[in-house]
Amino acid sequence: MSALLEVDAVSVRFGGLTAVDAVSIAVPAGEVRAIIGPNGAGKTTLVGAICGRVRADSGRIVLGGADISRLPAHARARRGIVYTFQVTSIFPTLSVRDNVALAAQRGLMRGVMGRLAVDRRVLDARVRGALARAGLEVDPEQPASALAYGHQRLLELAMGLALAPRVLILDEPTQGLAEGEIAHFRTLVRELAGTVSVLLIEHNVEVVLAVADHITVLDQGRVLAEGTPRAIAHDPEVQRAYLGG
Ligand SMILES: Nc1ncnc2c1ncn2[C@@H]1O[C@H](COP(=O)(O)OP(=O)(O)OP(=O)(O)O)[C@@H](O)[C@H]1O
Ligand SMILES: [Mg+2]
Repeated sequence: MSALLEVDAVSVRFGGLTAVDAVSIAVPAGEVRAIIGPNGAGKTTLVGAICGRVRADSGRIVLGGADISRLPAHARARRGIVYTFQVTSIFPTLSVRDNVALAAQRGLMRGVMGRLAVDRRVLDARVRGALARAGLEVDPEQPASALAYGHQRLLELAMGLALAPRVLILDEPTQGLAEGEIAHFRTLVRELAGTVSVLLIEHNVEVVLAVADHITVLDQGRVLAEGTPRAIAHDPEVQRAYLGG
């Protein structure tokens, strides 16, 4: 199967430090790919290079056969690479609905149709769809600042989904969530799989083993191992380096 997203020998250096060292990964459409590894392994830097927040020093990022390595982050977002799950991009004084509508509007302004005004009904449908897919069951008219932390993270996810991602990057999505919210999140990621490729950076090994189709283990900027959850869980080298025996 040819991959939707191909990362080809990407390196990122910060001064003398090689944070990402010639990493190659190929992610098929609809796959949940977990990226795991110890602190400082280069996970966030790698996904930063994929979405364009971080400049790669060498290598290529290819989406659907097109080389997007030279595109800025906003252009990659328009093509469907969405980085989310950081409460930081929420507008606290705007309503839940308007936060998602802003994201949806950006998503709808892609391509030729972007030259036309965004139809109100299309926008409303996109907003409702994103809220439903994220499983955020709250009053959409309340300000985002009134939401509990876990719900703010779901709002962030709804905003990402409103952009109609092809590749959804989630960086430590369960951090700070309660156990019930983590269980909900696991279900949600499996529901997204199939229609969206998910790049999931996650320290919670239980979550990773439950939701990932495939796991890439990074260590010191390099791919240490790659395989199914079952293979990774039993890989002695991974256990030594990361899972703690
Ligand atoms: N902007 C930056 N400038 C300099 N060094 C950086 C920068 N960003 C990351 N690094 C360094 O690059 C290495 C990889 O960092 P990165 O944040 O990608 O790791 P990570 O795997 O996401 O770790 P964590 O699990 O703690 O989030 C670390 O040594 C980090 O200190
Ligand atoms: Mg990180």
